[in-house]
Formats: sequence, structure tokens, C-alpha cells
Amino acid sequence: MSNSATFKVKIEKLPRHVAIIMDGNGRWAKLHGRPRIHGHQKGVERAREACEVALELGITVLSLYAFSTENWSRPPGEVEFLMALLEEYLTKELPIMMDKEIRLHPIGRLKDLPVTTQKKVKEAMEATKGNARLTLNLALNYGGRAELVDAFKDMAKLLKEGKLSPHDIEEATVNRFLYTKAQPFPDLLIRTSGELRISNFLLWQTAYTELYFTSTLWPDFDRSEFIKALLEYQKRERRFGGLGY
Ligand code: FPP
Repeated sequence: MSNSATFKVKIEKLPRHVAIIMDGNGRWAKLHGRPRIHGHQKGVERAREACEVALELGITVLSLYAFSTENWSRPPGEVEFLMALLEEYLTKELPIMMDKEIRLHPIGRLKDLPVTTQKKVKEAMEATKGNARLTLNLALNYGGRAELVDAFKDMAKLLKEGKLSPHDIEEATVNRFLYTKAQPFPDLLIRTSGELRISNFLLWQTAYTELYFTSTLWPDFDRSEFIKALLEYQKRERRFGGLGY
């Protein structure tokens, strides 16, 4: 798809928040006769490209599922490689994030990541906290159920301390305890590689999100694929449980 396709995207109907399950790196590598890690390397380039498209169009939140709570079950060598790749990504991207005003907002149980990875993530988070053009939610050791458990624990603590009353708990209260706090919910969730699942990503937040599944593998999900997903999203009629007329 040429650059002209970008112009077909209606700016007034843009999703504010796009979430992406970047799947298919391993299959892409196999298809090209390369080790799995090569697929992940290529995947990082596509993550960078997705940020560029978001910035260019004015999408304000991008959530990328980089490492799930279930991904620890992969061979230790692959997990180590992914952590090293993440550290390298954060080091390389930090000046770009500053330049382009991207705020890195990690979501997930960071304390279980290797100490060196945690350090890099926290450094980037701290350095970029004043940036306001694009919030990049990088899901690391993330699980939607784990996020809810963490929220319930924090809420229970406040209840016990008498700082929160059961009568005051509403949906908005739950929102405030999530990793995504004050952010808009995802308008569009994209999953690559032909799998038709949510896989524990942003469970609470995606209640009314439009879903877009493509068989394209993540390392092939380039700018034109992203634009295609956005154009498809713009054709959808969002009713949020109402009649829409
Ligand atoms: C899915 O491919 C991808 C992951 C498990 C996450 C890794 C994602 C990246 C390296 C891209 C972005 C990274 C950063 C740091 C922004 P898979 O291994 O599940 O593929 P398969 O299902 O084909 O085996």
C-alpha cells in the first residue's frame, strides 16, 4: 500500500488507543529458514514502525504485548534473548523517545523481570515521564488476569485501611487501579499471525474494543498493514451496546 493510502485515513475517526498482539515472529523465522531469534529482531523493527505510524497520525496510546506472564515457559535461551533485546531496544530508543515525545509506560509485573531489564525499563520510564505526544504501553510480564488480581489486592488494602468504602466501588474505581489508569480504553485491538484469541491482553479494557485479526505475521506487519487495519476500523459502526441510531 502506497503512502497515499495514509491520506485515506480519516483523522476525525482515528482510534485514540490501539493495542497490538504482535504474534508470529517464530513462524516468520521458520518460513525464512532462520532461527526464532531472528524473527524477534525483525519484530522489534516493526514495533518501531508502528510507533512511527501512531505518531504521524496522532494516535495517542499504543499498547504492545511484548512479553506475557505465560512467555516464561519458552526455552530459557529464548527468554534470555528477549530480555537482552528489550534492554537493547530501550537503550537505542531512549533518545528517539525523547525527541519524538514518547512516554514509555510499562505495564505488567515488572518486579519479576531480570534486575538489569528492570533497571533499563525504569530509567526509560523516568526519563520519558514528561512526554505527552504518544504513550507507549509496553506490556512486560503482563497478564490481564494478573492485572486484575493486582488491582483487587490494592483495593482490598484500601478497604481494610478504611480509605475506600464498598459502596463507593464503581467501574471507574476499578479503572483507577489498573496499570492503564487514566488512559482511554483501546478502540482497536490488532492481532497478527492468524490466531483468533485475546490471550489475556487488557481483559477489562477491551470490553468494547473493535477486534482486527490478520494472518500477516508480525515481522511482515509494516506501515501499509497498519493503515489497512485502521481503514477497516473506520468502517465499523461502534454501538457500545446501544442501537447506534
Ligand atoms: C510473538 O512471536 C512475539 C513475542 C513473544 C514477543 C516478542 C516481541 C517482539 C520481539 C517485538 C517487539 C519487541 C519490543 C521490545 C518492542 P512468537 O514467538 O509467539 O511467534 P510464533 O507464534 O510464530 O512462534
